[in-house]
Amino acid sequence: MKICMIGSGYVGLVSGACFSDLGNTVTCVDIKKDIIEKLNKGIIPIYEPGLQELVLRNLKKKRLLFSTDISSSIRKSDIIFVCVGTPTKNNKTDLKYVINVIKTIKSNLNRYKIIVTKSTVPVTTGDKIAKILKSNKNKNKFDVVSNPEFLREGEAIRDFQFPDRVVVGTNSNKANKIMKKLYLPLIKKGGRYFHTSRRSAELIKYASNAFLATKITFINEIANLCEKINIDVKEIAIGMGLDERIGSRFLRAGPGYGGSCFPKDTRALVSTGRIFNTNLSVVKSVVNSNDNRFNLLLNKISKIMNNKIKNKNITFLGVTFKPGTDDMRESSSLKLIPALSRKGAYINYYEPTGQKKEFKSKNINFFENIRDACKYADLIIIHTEWNEFKQLNFKKITKKKNFKVFDMRNLYSTSEMKKNKINYFSIGR
Ligand code: UGA
Repeated sequence: MKICMIGSGYVGLVSGACFSDLGNTVTCVDIKKDIIEKLNKGIIPIYEPGLQELVLRNLKKKRLLFSTDISSSIRKSDIIFVCVGTPTKNNKTDLKYVINVIKTIKSNLNRYKIIVTKSTVPVTTGDKIAKILKSNKNKNKFDVVSNPEFLREGEAIRDFQFPDRVVVGTNSNKANKIMKKLYLPLIKKGGRYFHTSRRSAELIKYASNAFLATKITFINEIANLCEKINIDVKEIAIGMGLDERIGSRFLRAGPGYGGSCFPKDTRALVSTGRIFNTNLSVVKSVVNSNDNRFNLLLNKISKIMNNKIKNKNITFLGVTFKPGTDDMRESSSLKLIPALSRKGAYINYYEPTGQKKEFKSKNINFFENIRDACKYADLIIIHTEWNEFKQLNFKKITKKKNFKVFDMRNLYSTSEMKKNKINYFSIGR
């Protein structure tokens, strides 16, 4: 099939590369010339394990193309995926990029095409898109489909190739048949194809993200309670997860959810509730609880340091919102690091992606290896759960005698740390 991905950011690029790997001819377009030039040379602008190999393989086979020519890419394609950004403006989803793309599609509708929203868009956006595209001239020339993505950063290729489910929302049998054919290789491998209405597909995406965010927030609050009564939240999560109705995933306590999706999507869902006069009180309190987590963590760090933060060396291991990505969006480190620096601490950080990040504060230093970052640390904070932080010999990596470790991801066993006489603190234990 001939496919066009409009927007070559995270979603468009990963999905486009994966669709081309299934044998389709895919053109990824973007208005950013520099990105398209790089992609044509096989240079990937984002950090995603396995993506470079996938892009290079399909570039070579000439099944994957990159272009800035949006009009001709639309005209030669059968399925157009809209993958542009949907940022939040005043807690509402800003659809200006989506709408601009739809207007361009409208003026290039030379034959029947399926227009698919992959970008996360509020429920009823598909109706708005169909209304824009509608005209006497365009009768029977298009179907608008919602096909939300469920890719996790850092694991996006595996999530695409082995999906739990492919959700396709459309009221058109013709579009559904074509979409099913497109996804057949993944369905054959066990991915469940779920055909539903367009509005349902749109809401499934938000409801899924909000539910996962709720699970995380729930366990984080239980962790707060565990700290008060001296029990281990990991045991609670295992005990709960053994009930198949609950499930064990997304019950890891930590610094709170971040990233480009959960914070944005939970807020947008609350705002959708408001538009449709429905009080989504659970989601609202999840948003509040996650926002408040920053204060809890800051107080906990002060307590660990006996309220003496000034002139202390604090080392962060990992600053991104999760491992396997270089994405800093809504990472808890973005608030914690400047707050500690304002309290007079010297912050060092090591980042496995090898990238120096921007923090709006002073006395913050980036290191290229763990040892140099931890050498003079009074406190080591394990912020992101990269594999390379899972077996550290803390006594060897720091010269300070009375150093402390705050493990925000519960990577180490408390009894092991006690045995090794390490001043160790974690979450909910
Ligand atoms: C999330 C969803 O998991 C994807 O299914 C969805 O497609 C994507 O958003 C999206 O809407 O595009 P992602 O943001 O890449 O994917 O990351 P997650 O792995 O879901 O983690 C989100 C946040 O929750 C991270 O800050 C992570 O550290 C935190 N988390 C996750 C926990 O604190 N505990 C857990 O048990 C799991």
